[in-house]
Parts: sequence; structure tokens; C-alpha cells
Amino acid sequence: MTVTEEAAPVSHYERIGGASSVKAAVELFYDKVLADPELAGYFTTVDMVGQRRHLALMLTVVLGGPNEYAGRGLAEAHQPLGVTPEHYAMVGAHLTATLTELGVPADVVADVQDVLAQVRGQVVAGGDGADA
Ligand code: HEM
Repeated sequence: MTVTEEAAPVSHYERIGGASSVKAAVELFYDKVLADPELAGYFTTVDMVGQRRHLALMLTVVLGGPNEYAGRGLAEAHQPLGVTPEHYAMVGAHLTATLTELGVPADVVADVQDVLAQVRGQVVAGGDGADA
């Protein structure tokens, strides 16, 4: 007799390969952002080691992995930066390109894009979610 495993729902986080895949995505993502002359200026005074760790934890939560994110809220971290809608779109495009390049399934990428649309108002300066 075979033992049948309980059909637990598999998170996007598990499907793409967990922590090591998220880490690889964050590395490639920031390489792209920092190589983009339109965007690099935002990060000149930022500690990129802590920054990569923060984004890895946050991407883990977005993908349904364990929630260990303890950083500032998105609005609090971004409203002082004056991020324009154009720059937000460019950062989103770098993230989508990164995930696609790394072979992340299209439905996972689509869900990440949904989250990007949802939090846009918190990140873009003066956005409608600035207080969220
Ligand atoms: C959905 C999109 C984004 C997410 C999920 C995200 C995520 C994060 C996170 C988790 C942090 C660390 C917060 C903390 O604990 O201090 C952070 C900081 C930062 N983000 Fe973003 N970010 C996004 C979009 C952007 C965009 C579009 C820009 C610029 C064009 C940007 C520039 C920065 C900078 C410069 C910091 C460092 C702020 C500081 O240390 O004072 N982010 N972001």
C-alpha cells in the first residue's frame, strides 16, 4: 500500500526554490537597478548589504514564504525619496525582467506584478496610499 501525502498547498516561494532563489533574484535585481543611470542615484548613500537583505525578506513574504520582515513600512521608507511614477515603473520592469530571466513561472511573475500595482501608492511620492 502506498502512503499518500497530504496535498498541502505549495507556495510560490517553495515552487521557485525557496531562500536561495530569492537571494539570487535580489542580487540580479539590484545589479540591474544600480546599472541603470536613471535609478542608481537613489541608492548612492544606501547600505546595499542591508538593502538586499530587506528586499529578500520582503520578496519572501510577497511569494508566500515565512514572514520574517521587520523593516520599516513601504510608505515610511519611500515617501521621503520622491520616487516618480516613471522610476517606479522602471524598477518594476527590472524586477519582472529578473524573475523572467531566472525562469520563475509566468503565473508567479503575474502575482508579483499584482502586488507591485497594489503597493504603488505607498512607494510613489504623494501616491494615494501614502498613509497606508
Ligand atoms: C514595490 C516596490 C518596492 C519594494 C517592495 C521596495 C522595498 C524596499 C524595502 C523592503 C526597503 C527597506 C526598508 C527599510 O527597512 O528601511 C526599501 C528601501 C529603499 N528603497 Fe525600495 N522598494 C520598492 C520600490 C522602490 C523604488 C521604485 C525605488 C527608487 C526608484 C526604491 C528605492 C529605495 C531606497 C533608496 C531605499 C533605502 C531608503 C533608506 O535607507 O532610507 N524602492 N525598499
